[in-house]
Parts: sequence; structure tokens; C-alpha cells
Amino acid sequence: MKKDNERNNWVATAPIIRLFLPIWDYVRMPRTSQNYKVNEMQSSSKPATPLHPRKRAILVGASSGLGAALAKKLTREGYTVALLARRKKLLTELCTFINSDGASHALAYEHDVTAYDKVPALLKRIITDLGGLDLFIFVAGVNFPPGLQKLNATDDIKMFETNTLGAIAWLAPVADLFKEARGGHIVGVSSVAGDRGRIGNPGYNSSKAALTTYLEALRNRFTRHGVHVLTVIPGFMDTDMVAAAQGATPFTIPPERAADDIFKAIKRRKQTVYTAPIWRWIMLAIKHTPSVIFRRLNF
Ligand SMILES: NC(=O)c1ccc[n+]([C@@H]2O[C@H](COP(=O)([O-])OP(=O)(O)OC[C@H]3O[C@@H](n4cnc5c(N)ncnc54)[C@H](OP(=O)(O)O)[C@@H]3O)[C@@H](O)[C@H]2O)c1
Repeated sequence: MKKDNERNNWVATAPIIRLFLPIWDYVRMPRTSQNYKVNEMQSSSKPATPLHPRKRAILVGASSGLGAALAKKLTREGYTVALLARRKKLLTELCTFINSDGASHALAYEHDVTAYDKVPALLKRIITDLGGLDLFIFVAGVNFPPGLQKLNATDDIKMFETNTLGAIAWLAPVADLFKEARGGHIVGVSSVAGDRGRIGNPGYNSSKAALTTYLEALRNRFTRHGVHVLTVIPGFMDTDMVAAAQGATPFTIPPERAADDIFKAIKRRKQTVYTAPIWRWIMLAIKHTPSVIFRRLNF
């Protein structure tokens, strides 16, 4: 009480400082469920009950690599997940592993993201199966490096069809649904490859650059409606995709570590996350390298 009086007297004599008090109060304010919704998640060790419902997520591209690691991480952290990809067998095995304690925290859906017209009905079906939706993650991606001799337009188009158009086919309807609900979290997995056009793989670079920009535009369009958008920018991860990469793969991390970084970024409501974090600084340097030098580099 004494402390409050002292503060009020002091404030009365300092009108300029008083102007900034609402900002200070906001900074000190304990974060409510509105600000840190994900913090409220129950650990999977606690049973799901009507009073402690599990959060619900859709993961597109979950059959291997980062998607599979994220599926395991999310279910451990209290989510029920719908897992989508083309390889149904892998998805079913993953669901069996996750649900081995007898619960049904993971559901499998066979889906090719280039079947764009199937998305609206499938989205509706999954939301009904899950009983709602809190988090949507688009992980699916393909990479067909053309080598340095000749470009391959067919492969470049395929990369756009999956990495960019497949993502848009899901992200747009999910964002509009979340807008109506005035809440929800969207995560899109892009790549450091999208930060700059390089000689090795123009198709992959530009498919991911377009995705990064699309996600930024969604963030700018939907934040005001309570929808949060996170752009994930991985460097190299030890998955099937990197096994097919050409050249050196420095700072490669296991997909489980990337999944941990992404989960932390979701909890902290970050806008962008580089994983491993060192890539933020590497790409800052690469993005600012003048074209006159960059054109002469062989990577
Ligand atoms: N590995 C890296 O070093 C690296 C670096 C930067 C960014 N990334 C990005 O990280 C994401 C995950 O890749 P990853 O490294 O985990 O490789 P991955 O093991 O090959 O995983 C790719 C995932 O995408 C799915 N997918 C591909 N085409 C699809 C389609 N048409 N329809 C539905 N699902 C499809 C695959 O499932 P199905 O084949 O079963 O359909 C698989 O689940 C990708 O977006 C990739 O571009 C990876």
C-alpha cells in the first residue's frame, strides 16, 4: 500500500513518465492464457479430461525426418495430432509407436499435397475427427538438385507444386478458419535456401523464397485477427533429404533438435526461427554479400 502511494505521488509530479506507464505495466503484466496459450499445455503424462483437453494439431509431411520428429515432440507435450503424407505405411507405423501406451494421440491420413482440390474436404474431416484445431504445421517438401551442368524445368516445377503451391493450398483455408475463430497458430517450414538465390538449385531456392514471403504476408494479414504465424528456417538436418544433397552440409543437426527449437519458438510466439540458431548469423552475412561478389561464389 505504502509502495503504491509513493509511486502515485511520484507519478503525479512526472507527467511525461506517466505517459509511459501503460507500456511498463504491460511489460510487467503476468502473461495470460491469451498471450501464452501454449504454456498451458498439459504434459502427456497427465490424462486428457474435459477440464484438461489436449491441444490439437495438423502436421502435413509427417511420415519421415522433421515431420516425424515434430509428431513425437508434440504428442509428448500434450497434443493430439493428425499426421499427413503420401507414405501411409510410415504414417501408420509412427501412429502405432506414438499410441503404444493405448491412447490415440496420433491419427494418420494419406494425402498428396499436390491434390489441391482435396484439401478443403480433408481439412473439414480432420477438424471434425480432432474436435477442433489449435496448431497447423506445413512441413512437406521435396528437393531435386539439378547439378551444375543443365537445369531441369520439370523438377523445378515439381518443387514448386509441393513446396509452394501445396503449402498455399493448406495455409490459405487454415488461416481464414483461424481468423474466424480469432486464434490459432500456423507454422510453415521453409529453408535457408530461400534466403538467397544460389547457383546450385534455383528451383528449390525460389520455391522456398516464395513460401517464406507467403508466410510473412499471412503474418502481416492475420496477426491483427489473433492468428500467429511462425516461419521456420532450417539449415541442414540429418534426414533423407539431406542424404540426397550435393556438396558439404555444415552444422547438420538431428531433426529431433530442430523439433525442440520449433516447439520452443511456438511457445514463445516467435515470428521466425532459424534451426540450428547459428544459421541466423550465417544467412545475415550471406544476405548482405553484394551481388558482385556473390555471383562469383560456387555454392
Ligand atoms: N533436411 C534438410 O537439411 C532441410 C533443410 C532445410 C529445409 N528443409 C525442409 O524441411 C522439411 C522437412 O524435410 P526433411 O528434411 O524432414 O525431409 P524428408 O524426410 O524427406 O521429409 C519430407 C516430408 O515431406 C513429405 N512430402 C513430400 N512430398 C509430399 C507430397 N507431395 N504430399 C505430401 N507429403 C509430401 C514426405 O512424405 P511422403 O514422401 O510420405 O509424402 C515427408 O514426410 C521440408 O520442407 C524441407 O524442404 C530440410
